[in-house]
Amino acid sequence: MSEPTSEDLNRESSAVWDAAAEWWKERTEENDPYRLFVHGPALSDACGDVDGLDVLDVGCGAGYFSSKLAGAGARVQAFEYSEYLVALAADEESRQPLGIQYEHLDAGLISDRFEPQSFDLVTGCMSIADIFPLDAALVGIHSVLKIGFSLPHPIATPPGNRWQKDPDNGFEGRMMSSYFGRRRVVSGLNRVVGKAEGPDIKVWHMPLSDWQQLLSDVGFAVAQFAEPHPSSAQVEEHAGFNWRPD
Ligand SMILES: C[S@@+](CC[C@H](N)C(=O)[O-])C[C@H]1O[C@@H](n2cnc3c(N)ncnc32)[C@H](O)[C@@H]1O
Repeated sequence: MSEPTSEDLNRESSAVWDAAAEWWKERTEENDPYRLFVHGPALSDACGDVDGLDVLDVGCGAGYFSSKLAGAGARVQAFEYSEYLVALAADEESRQPLGIQYEHLDAGLISDRFEPQSFDLVTGCMSIADIFPLDAALVGIHSVLKIGFSLPHPIATPPGNRWQKDPDNGFEGRMMSSYFGRRRVVSGLNRVVGKAEGPDIKVWHMPLSDWQQLLSDVGFAVAQFAEPHPSSAQVEEHAGFNWRPD
């Protein structure tokens, strides 16, 4: 059988996200302490003061990070490949307008859709690793001045990874048998939140050195590199963290 094309993978990913849309919206807005207290704030910090900036939010999902940007004064254009998710985002925008322009678009077509250097900032909140036409998307994104990414750390995405309890102290750790190589893998999100009914979302797994190489091949210079994680106080406060305190 021939290898699936990037277009096939993208269509498959979009179907999974359409099916997962309601679950994702409920999870991101109410039940995901990693996003609400760790990734989201870390990406906001990396973006700095966005007041008055023109920002493109890539793979915006139901609009979680786009709303944060608009709330901080940015003019936000946002797109998403799952038609269902972008409809949820647009619905929310019509209920509580923040001036965000949402549209349905494949990240592989950024260069066709937007003029070069038309944004002050491009953000992708946990979306870049989900994009299968990855090289095309990164080349498109590179036509803007600055960028903020948050990616799942590859320590959490190796193929076949699973949670395992340490019999000595009862804490759960991530078991991995293979780290190197660039592959698409099931993200394990559903297991992270302990919900068997969660979707089998596929993402890119590659070691940090490959991410760095890929970004520099496209022409990016990495200006800031952060590995956000919950503090001991946050772990105490929110039951949703499956985390061993520092
Ligand atoms: C982990 S979710 C993050 C969503 C959103 N940024 C958030 O923080 O809630 C990844 C998103 O990337 C989107 N995505 C995947 N491939 C895409 C593509 N080719 N073009 C645009 N969006 C894509 C998915 O549909 C999904 O909504």
